[in-house]
Amino acid sequence: MRRSLIMGNWKMNGSREDGQKLAQALADGLGSVQQEVAVCVPFVYLSDIHSVLAASPIALGAQNVADQTSGAYTGEVSAAMLSEVGCKYALVGHSERRSFYGDTNESVAKRFCQALSKGVVPVLCVGETLEEREQDRTFQVVDEQLDAVIAAAGIEAFETAVIAYEPVWAIGTGKVATDEQAQEVHKYIRQRIADRNSVIAEKVQILYGGSVKPDNAKGLFAMPDIDGGLVGGASLDAKGFLQICHSV
Ligand code: G3H
Repeated sequence: MRRSLIMGNWKMNGSREDGQKLAQALADGLGSVQQEVAVCVPFVYLSDIHSVLAASPIALGAQNVADQTSGAYTGEVSAAMLSEVGCKYALVGHSERRSFYGDTNESVAKRFCQALSKGVVPVLCVGETLEEREQDRTFQVVDEQLDAVIAAAGIEAFETAVIAYEPVWAIGTGKVATDEQAQEVHKYIRQRIADRNSVIAEKVQILYGGSVKPDNAKGLFAMPDIDGGLVGGASLDAKGFLQICHSV
């Protein structure tokens, strides 16, 4: 059985103090849980939040990672740096990176490999836009996003990676995919992995992201191929996020 993973993505929100308070509230309120819980916080707060979470089981993640090892890459943060400040996870290819900052399937694959090379678990985000869904291209887009990473890293890399399916049209819009719509794509992704390696396909955690809220989490997480969530807006409220964590 796969262990569930609930991951908050704070995006570019809050102050240092807000983050510390939120992390403390999560650490105090989580209690003992079977599932894994993690928060992806802004780079500059990683060390602070690491200290707050030190005595809790909540893991730390970054929201991106450089596609190079080190050197003259102004503004970038390397996988080694993330590892040094206690990151277990790094998101790669979040749709906001793809659409606002020019991340391509190729650069996402490089980021994925960089994270892995330093023992940081990459969380590969994939998903289609509304236009792509309406053109019936969901599976094709997801294939391209996945295949670029499989080609660069090899299928074995997914032994220690997480996939997040995030339909772009559901991110921050309040328009959540139905349980069935999400399950259909999750199943498809797992099959795509199984075509190369069925053992890894059974093990890999596939998270759903896109307007996950306390009132829809249970239904989504009950689907057979949905192993948890990547939660944006609702992860900024401790009470709501804890409720989502307990919806598994
Ligand atoms: O990384 C999280 C996703 O972008 C989902 O964000 O829960 O605010 O829709 P959201």
